[in-house]
Amino acid sequence: MTTPFLPPRIVAPSILASDYGKFGNEAADAEAQGGDWLHLDVMDGHFVENISFGPGVVKALRPHTNLFFDVHLMITRPDHYWEAFAKAGANGITVHVESHHDVRMTLKKIREAGIKTGLALNPSTPFEEVQPFLTDIDLLLVMTVVPGFGGQSFMRETLPKIEAGVAERNRQGLRYHIEVDGGIDAHTAADATRAGANALVAGTTIFKATDRAAAIRSLRDA
Ligand code: DX5
Ligand code: ZN
Repeated sequence: MTTPFLPPRIVAPSILASDYGKFGNEAADAEAQGGDWLHLDVMDGHFVENISFGPGVVKALRPHTNLFFDVHLMITRPDHYWEAFAKAGANGITVHVESHHDVRMTLKKIREAGIKTGLALNPSTPFEEVQPFLTDIDLLLVMTVVPGFGGQSFMRETLPKIEAGVAERNRQGLRYHIEVDGGIDAHTAADATRAGANALVAGTTIFKATDRAAAIRSLRDA
């Protein structure tokens, strides 16, 4: 039995909750305040009921921080667009299992481009849907809210899928991060990390905090 992979705690500020009027400064601040990754929520107004930003914005943010760009594609056709985000400076690209594409092919192409691969599943999607792709990913994103908007409440019914992700990682001897995204604060982070998540995405908790560094520390220590 190989020793189970225990990835480090990662705090990933989600720039969706920041001040769009000073996006570059906000990306730099996420690093200055102690974030590990920058979580960039791309929304197409079709896969989710909101529109955020495209590769041009990711490219514009790239020179403002050295943080790992954790790009979350909440779009219907990630197979059409992943490469534009890779060229814009993404370090990791997460696609949704629910999107209309050949998941295995998309993940394969992202990995061949030297970019870390992520696969996300929505709260209503059973864990079984991602089971066939676990060997193809560096990150499993268990959505803890219905994607589309920041500021929603954490959905506790997603916890068993985090536990399933850990169990399968151990059973197969795999090495993927388990990330949670949506409604993450010090309390819900404690629940999510107890279930086995190691990467914590937080928008509101961090960017709306008076002391962002303290907010990040509260998640790191949860
Ligand atoms: C929601 C996004 C999340 C969101 C998190 O669709 O995927 O990353 O920005 O926002 P909070 O932390 O405010 O719930
Ligand atoms: Zn996200």
